[in-house]
Amino acid sequence: MVGVSDERAAALLAAAREAAGHAYVPYSAFPVGAAALAADGTIVTGCNVENASFGLTVCGERVAVWGAVAAGQREIVAVAVATPREPGGTPCGACRQVLAEFAPRDQELIVILEGEAGPEQVPLSALLPRSFGPADLMGDGGRLAPAGG
Ligand code: THU
Repeated sequence: MVGVSDERAAALLAAAREAAGHAYVPYSAFPVGAAALAADGTIVTGCNVENASFGLTVCGERVAVWGAVAAGQREIVAVAVATPREPGGTPCGACRQVLAEFAPRDQELIVILEGEAGPEQVPLSALLPRSFGPADLMGDGGRLAPAGG
């Protein structure tokens, strides 16, 4: 796993925490913020947005990824996630799958979490092993595989 620098991880987590401040969470009172780092260095944040029709709620991670895609990005290098569970919050299964869609082809997408001792960098493949992704449909050798693998 390559990962990002400690400074960058801390900055992304700080951006995620700030984004959590914008969460719309009248039902759960569980604000989540996310900060996605795109391949060109752009950072796009997101927060969870709930709905009175509960199933329409969208997680902070997906809002960040979709915002990045809408801004023209197609490769997400890292995503920091801030939840009220500090330490211990991790992306839900649906968000892991959405992250896998935009993982770089030649390196691991790094998820940055609030760890016991500060920012913790976890490769997406550890959170979503043997995932189904673009490679299964396009046969390009597997986007989540390490370079050369
Ligand atoms: N939530 C996220 O935003 N990200 C996750 O990975 C887990 C859950 C949100 C959805 C809902 O608004 C609230 O947290 C409680 O589930």
